[in-house]
Amino acid sequence: MVLVAPSLLAADMGHLYEQIALVEAAGADWLHFDIMDGHFVPNLSYGPEMVRQMRPKSKLFFDVHLMVETPFKFIKMFENCGADMITVHYEAAENLSEIIDYLQTRRIKVGVSLKPNTPANVLEPYLERIDTVLIMTVEPGFGGQTFMQNQLGKIETMKKLIGMRPVHIEVDGGINEQTAPLCLKAGADVLVAGSAVFKNQNPSQIIKKLHQLGEIK
Ligand code: DX5
Ligand code: ZN
Repeated sequence: MVLVAPSLLAADMGHLYEQIALVEAAGADWLHFDIMDGHFVPNLSYGPEMVRQMRPKSKLFFDVHLMVETPFKFIKMFENCGADMITVHYEAAENLSEIIDYLQTRRIKVGVSLKPNTPANVLEPYLERIDTVLIMTVEPGFGGQTFMQNQLGKIETMKKLIGMRPVHIEVDGGINEQTAPLCLKAGADVLVAGSAVFKNQNPSQIIKKLHQLGEIK
């Protein structure tokens, strides 16, 4: 089954509640929050208050993607805001093993993300303890970028490394009707989509189409 995770980065910020209600009604599975610190990535977005205020408005699974230096420090700011999963970047994590343990004690799902130049095998020692591997299919920092085809091999390698373990492979960046089937074929099962959903005339339709792609894979 394919899960669809609209990224609020591309939403109309003046109508956030309505935008969330729209994707929820259309059958979205997760809601993806992109948190940027201006250091790990050259952009700023929003912080824990945003997640906290949206929590009572939605029943969706809140997928918080931390694109920040020193993520452990920030996890402590996000853990009580209603995040169902917190994803940290392998490249930024002070001590990944400690972060995983900490999230598990807080009963928050664990995501670990890889930038395009980081190989899949760095996560091999952690796969027993991770819920989701997030493979960036653009350089993190901005919505609306072009999908990097050269990440498809990494998705395939990750799928092999994961084997039978119950670990999701989530892809993020430039995902749309054309690129999603390539990712699904390579082994991904969670599709983050910002522009493809919120810049679309008909967000509901694209969410349904992305789900259907999972059925015909
Ligand atoms: C990029 C973010 C993405 C972004 C995707 O750094 O991690 O989640 O919102 O946006 P699109 O789907 O527009 O590429
Ligand atoms: Zn993201």
